[in-house]
Amino acid sequence: MKPQPTLETQRLQLRAFAATDADRVQRLAGDRAVSATTVNIPYPYEDGRAEAWIASHRLEYKEGRVVTFAIVLRSENALIGAIGLTISEKHSRAELGYWIGSAYWNQGYCTEAVRALLRYGFEDLTLNKIHASFFKENLASGRVMEKVRMLYEGCRRQHFQKENEFRDRIDYGILRSEFSPIAADPKQNGERNGK
Ligand SMILES: CC(C)(COP(=O)(O)OP(=O)(O)OC[C@H]1O[C@@H](n2cnc3c(N)ncnc32)[C@H](O)[C@@H]1OP(=O)(O)O)[C@@H](O)C(=O)NCCC(=O)NCCS
Repeated sequence: MKPQPTLETQRLQLRAFAATDADRVQRLAGDRAVSATTVNIPYPYEDGRAEAWIASHRLEYKEGRVVTFAIVLRSENALIGAIGLTISEKHSRAELGYWIGSAYWNQGYCTEAVRALLRYGFEDLTLNKIHASFFKENLASGRVMEKVRMLYEGCRRQHFQKENEFRDRIDYGILRSEFSPIAADPKQNGERNGK
């Protein structure tokens, strides 16, 4: 496995997490609004969790299981979220996951990061498929997937339990044969600010 690359987009840098990011991760991911629509981010977010999560990345990457990037807003040199791919080598596919700190929502940052990850997944990792899922009520996440031209693949009813409620899971996916780097480039696509 090559060292984890750093990816650059118009406004963002996607880089490996460092131990020094832990406080910021705890602050951003420890927001109830971020936890509410994710399967794996608890609220409250305990001390030490961010450190342990960041420390797990190196081995996961080395073993080709997960690649996780910190999303950094270049203009402020500020970490604003996380994005990653959980890889199934056997099936040449990966599951995409992400969160953005709530102060940075609705500015196209997630969409911009996802476009870079799709390109990385298809071009560098030569995956055949990238898929993702979200709680049915998480309309923002669904919108991100539509904007990057992932396709609806179905609903798994009451598939998750979060805060004592069963949640429907919506699945989206995109195949390598459907991915176009030109369509994935917001500039080529006539879009503003990655939106
Ligand atoms: C989902 C999430 C990552 C989106 O990040 P973001 O940077 O705000 O996403 P973008 O700005 O790229 O796109 C969001 C889109 O959703 C739209 N949107 C936001 N809230 C919406 C709502 N309640 N209903 C419909 N659309 C909504 C925005 O208008 C935007 O679409 P547009 O560009 O067409 O206007 C962010 O909300 C988040 O981190 N949520 C908590 C964690 C989470 O849910 N992670 C994903 C788990 S699957």
